[in-house]
Parts: sequence; structure tokens; C-alpha cells
Amino acid sequence: MKVLIFGAAGQLGKDLQRVLKKDFTLSPVTHDQCDITNDTATQKFIAESKPDWVINCAAWTDVPGCEKDDQKAFAVNALGAKHIAAGCAKSKSKLIHISTDYVFDGRQNQPYSETSLPRPVNVYGLSKLTGEHYIPMTHDQYFIVRTSGLYGIHPNRGKKTNFVETMLKLAKERDVVKVVDDEILTPTFTLNLAQQIKVLMGIDRYGIYHATNNGSCSWYEFTRKIFEMAKINTRLEKTTVKEFASPVKRPAYSVLKNLNLQNLGIDFMKMWDAALEDYFSDKDNKLKL
Ligand SMILES: NC(=O)c1ccc[n+]([C@@H]2O[C@H](COP(=O)([O-])OP(=O)(O)OC[C@H]3O[C@@H](n4cnc5c(N)ncnc54)[C@H](OP(=O)(O)O)[C@@H]3O)[C@@H](O)[C@H]2O)c1
Repeated sequence: MKVLIFGAAGQLGKDLQRVLKKDFTLSPVTHDQCDITNDTATQKFIAESKPDWVINCAAWTDVPGCEKDDQKAFAVNALGAKHIAAGCAKSKSKLIHISTDYVFDGRQNQPYSETSLPRPVNVYGLSKLTGEHYIPMTHDQYFIVRTSGLYGIHPNRGKKTNFVETMLKLAKERDVVKVVDDEILTPTFTLNLAQQIKVLMGIDRYGIYHATNNGSCSWYEFTRKIFEMAKINTRLEKTTVKEFASPVKRPAYSVLKNLNLQNLGIDFMKMWDAALEDYFSDKDNKLKL
């Protein structure tokens, strides 16, 4: 079976290739090869490739950037998703589209399930939610997979790094590292998510799925665990979103419950701290190669 992956140079796109390469014929597609904002080019790409599956990991993930340029955010995250779904409908390819916890407003204090009402608080979240809405309008064989706080051994394309590596770098450079303690999420290891997506490809129950690592923490608690696992003694202090003065509004609580995966008995996402341990071993193994 053939799988076409848009956003193949991104952190999730790369881990999907590691996970799927043994069992599928892969066509990784980078931004240079096809710009998903171009409807004709995107549909032509899919029509010529005739894949059984299309996985869309392509997105503009720069949250502050999206706030400044909503046209670009919607062109990539909303219309890009629509163009891919239209190409999939014509070539009868099944679609897996990746979305985000940022479709929620963060006012809840218990995990959001697939039936919770989305209400984004920033342009990135709104553009991703619009992308989600375009998909069922266009195609009926689709999985929308919402995830959160991704990190993996391949860097996020925009940031050229990930949160774990940023904290390790700051720990070397600074005497004190301050991290917000009032934004709660579930950091998610891309390799574990890629493995879960492969499991999802084995079923034909289309729809929306939440797929994050299990449990939850604040960014401060996540950093404390990173320092503990990396045996770092740099002083770590709590701060708040208000003190940090971020230019973009973000949901204060964006924990997702993998309810649909759990109902099908296929939630293989690890606890967030066990997944972080896997990340460190994955990183060590890569360095040894
Ligand atoms: N990162 C997170 O914490 C997070 C959290 C929740 C959900 N998600 C979702 O998870 C998915 C994967 O995220 P990620 O962190 O792996 O992202 P990433 O590393 O930033 O990769 C995204 C990829 O999309 C490509 N891309 C951007 N604009 C494009 C365009 N117009 N046409 C074609 N390709 C384009 C980028 O290529 P260039 O770099 O060459 O432009 C990049 O390779 C996205 O849907 C994202 O919204 C991410």
C-alpha cells in the first residue's frame, strides 16, 4: 500500500516515515515539491501518485507568526487541508489529517474529548479548526487526529528545535531557568504518535480522534522532569503566563482525552513522562548511529 506524506520534512512527518517504511511504500512530499496552498498543484500531485493513504502533517505551526499573518495561516492550515481532501476524494485515497489541541479555548479544567466544543483563542487554532471543517465537506474517508505539544528527535521545521532541547540549552546558558506553571497540556512524543497513527490505519472507523500521550503537566513540570532525566542541576523556577508576557493568547488548559481510541481499545499512547524517557533513549540511539 502506498502512503503519501505531506509535511515530510517536519518533526512528525519524519517519525511517520521511520514507523511506516517497513510496511508501506512511502512518498514523502516536502514543501519544495508541492505547496499545499496551490490547489491545482496539490490535487495534481495526489492524482499522479494515486496513493492508498495521504497523511497531512504539513502546516504553518508558528503560532505567533499566524497571529501576525492570518492570510498565510488560513492559506496553509485551512485551504491547504481542503486542497488535500479534494485530491483524496478524487483519487479515493484515505486521508489522515493532523490537527491540534489549540482548537479549544482552555477554559475547561478537565480533559477535552472529541465531543467537546472547539472554540479557538488564537489565529493558529482558528485556521486549524477551519481546516478540520473543510475535510468532511470534501471527503468522507478521513481521520482527523488532534494532538498536542509535539517533540521528537527531528526538530520542528519552523523552530529548528523542540521544547526539550530548548530547555537543555537554556540550562547550560543560564543560572536560573524560569518556566510557566499555569499552562497545562500533554507533551507528546512524535514517535509514539506515529506508532498510534499506524494502528489507526488498521481500522476503518473514520472521524475525529484525540491522540496525545496520557496524563498532563504544566510546562514547568515538564521541564522539571526533563532536568531530572538529563541529571541537570540548574535552578528551575516557576513563572506565570502574565509575567512571561507572551504576545499570543494560548489555552491555559489544553489536555485532550483520547476517548475514541480508548472506546476502540486502541489507545497505545504512553504516559507523558514514560514517553519523555523514550525520547532520551531515542536520542542516544540516534547519536550512536
Ligand atoms: N508542533 C506541535 O507542538 C504541534 C501540536 C499540536 C498539533 N500539531 C500539528 O501536527 C502537525 C505536524 O506538526 P510538526 O510539529 O511536525 O510541524 P513542522 O515540524 O513545523 O512541520 C510542518 C511541515 O509543513 C511544511 N509546510 C509548511 N507550509 C507548507 C506549505 N504551504 N506546503 C507544503 N508544506 C508546508 C513545512 O515545510 P517547510 O518547513 O519547508 O516550510 C514542514 O516540513 C501539524 O499539523 C501541526 O499543526 C503540532
